[in-house]
Amino acid sequence: MKVSFKDLGLVNTREMFAKAVKGGYAIPAFNFNNMEQLQAIIQASTETKSPVILQVSKGARNYANQTLLRYMAQGAVEYAKELGWKKPQIVLHLDHGDSYEVCKSCVDFGFSSVMIDGSHLPYEENVALTKKVVKYAHKHDVTVEAELGVLAGVEDEVSSEVSHYTKPEEVIDFVKKTGCDSLAISIGTSHGAYKFTPEQCTRDEQTGRLVPPPLAFDILKAIEKKLPGFPIVLHGSSSVPQEHVDIINANGGKLPNAVGIPEEQLRKAAKSAVCKINIDSDSRLAMTAAVRKHFAENPGHFDPRQYLKPAREEMKKMYIHKIINVLGSQNKAR
Ligand code: G3H
Ligand code: 13P
Ligand code: ZN
Repeated sequence: MKVSFKDLGLVNTREMFAKAVKGGYAIPAFNFNNMEQLQAIIQASTETKSPVILQVSKGARNYANQTLLRYMAQGAVEYAKELGWKKPQIVLHLDHGDSYEVCKSCVDFGFSSVMIDGSHLPYEENVALTKKVVKYAHKHDVTVEAELGVLAGVEDEVSSEVSHYTKPEEVIDFVKKTGCDSLAISIGTSHGAYKFTPEQCTRDEQTGRLVPPPLAFDILKAIEKKLPGFPIVLHGSSSVPQEHVDIINANGGKLPNAVGIPEEQLRKAAKSAVCKINIDSDSRLAMTAAVRKHFAENPGHFDPRQYLKPAREEMKKMYIHKIINVLGSQNKAR
């Protein structure tokens, strides 16, 4: 049986993005795979009154089951209300949808937004696939994110060494032909906790930390010029906080030279037409750091609640920090 996202208390991204572009801030898009992540996301967005996008990836669907995750998102709306958020603005979004069938099944099952990622396809095939998804999704008032340009290390476990930046000269034609509602672009971000090799970075003389190269803001500017006011999305936008990497490495982990996108660059992007910023790895790092620390300090613990509680707290702290200090979406969903 088909379900509309509206009956679940979810919203699509249309109005949210229009406000974000005008207001010079970005909506957080956090991936979730389990209850603790979802609790932390909802607590953080409720306390800050930030609109939020809950993202479900292919990996998440394989790990936790699409049906279960959808019901969890429905539960999250009720949980937010219980926490005192009168009108929660929560989007349930398919992250990196890789076929028309997957997108259709999510539309039919209560998702309020889907991404069709045809970025690896030849241009005309990407256009045709995206257009087909848009046609179906719009019939149900579900918004569609598309992607042009390829991120390094993109799409689940598939890893690519190359990053093909989005070509600004293609964006008008793509958006016009497909009718997509937002566009993910490639300007130097990538998925995971290793966004740049040490060779691509310089080193801060004082701290010895890796300093990544800047994002291609010239390309972002050129795209904004071609599509004034059109919602732009940044994937691969974890900043890989070094305090979490340090805790992991000090407690038996091994993440040498893990490095992300500096937060000041994300802040700058959020003030532009970038209105959705995707963060997944930072949540994984916060959780892992807290769990490793907990076990190092409490070797006798074996009740998952004992170590997942501090993990949830650490993720929540991280989400609140992103909302307030990086994306600027606090109080935008009052
Ligand atoms: O796009 C990548 C996201 O971080 C999701 O990754 O498929 O391992 O859940 P995943
Ligand atoms: P990160 O790996 O940088 O968190 O990116 C997540 C993402 O883009 C999900 O689609
Ligand atoms: Zn992504």
